[in-house]
Amino acid sequence: MYKQLQQRGMESPPVNIGTLREMRQAREPIACLTAYDASFAELVDRAGTDVVLVGDSLGMVIQGLDTTVPVTMDDMIYHTRCVARGLRRAFLMADMPFMSYTTPPQALDNAVRLMQEGGAMMVKLEMGRGQVGIVEYLAKQDIPLCAHLGLKPQSVHKLGGFKVQGRDQQAAENMLEEARALERAGADTLLLECVPNALGAAIRDAVQIPVIGIGAGPDVDGQILVLYDVLGITRGRMPRFVKNYMTGRDSPLEALRAYVRGVKDRSYPAPEHCFTE
Ligand code: KIV
Repeated sequence: MYKQLQQRGMESPPVNIGTLREMRQAREPIACLTAYDASFAELVDRAGTDVVLVGDSLGMVIQGLDTTVPVTMDDMIYHTRCVARGLRRAFLMADMPFMSYTTPPQALDNAVRLMQEGGAMMVKLEMGRGQVGIVEYLAKQDIPLCAHLGLKPQSVHKLGGFKVQGRDQQAAENMLEEARALERAGADTLLLECVPNALGAAIRDAVQIPVIGIGAGPDVDGQILVLYDVLGITRGRMPRFVKNYMTGRDSPLEALRAYVRGVKDRSYPAPEHCFTE
């Protein structure tokens, strides 16, 4: 009856939330990538990626938008469902889009849709201290949660651009406190985007849950990049933290395997991909 019990004996059983906790404990880097369709999901999975995120970055890389703000719940559900069909081993996380979690009941309805209609195993929300109550509410309903801190692209018009966050001492202390509060409220993982290395390390040490970084330095528990950036298909300017793994390689699968290897052996991120202050 319980398929997961049968899968335990497999050579590489599907990744679950317990696997992610064990990897943090064992200090084994967690390799994560985004995906938006079944064919790429299959490749990303075959490359050995531990976590696949259906990011609302699909607004930019699939829909050609300038920001993630116009992405809808229906968009997220459609792409999550496509990706779910391509995965065998990787853990599937999906973004809650802009303004889909403004109240606890709305957040719960939309998280349930992403899990039931899309097949997501965890939902990711861009969070601040003001939304701790939403995390608490969802956690009480056993919704697996990732809280996204640092640069929050859904707030781009409030931030005035895509900028490194937590650079001054006050902002860094606020973010540390937010991370602790979100863990206390029941977040299962954190995603940290574009913060200086030292803040990435301090947040990793301040919480017990896995911390995945994108432009957050080498000292977090895992790394994530947007799939198209890893494959050298970046629209516009390439962010500092991106590494194009297609360079010198013949196939997307080879490039994705090299990325996973780079995360696992900690050669990615190198100093040139990091923000030191
Ligand atoms: O939407 C997305 O792809 C993300 C990544 C930047 C991690 O949130």
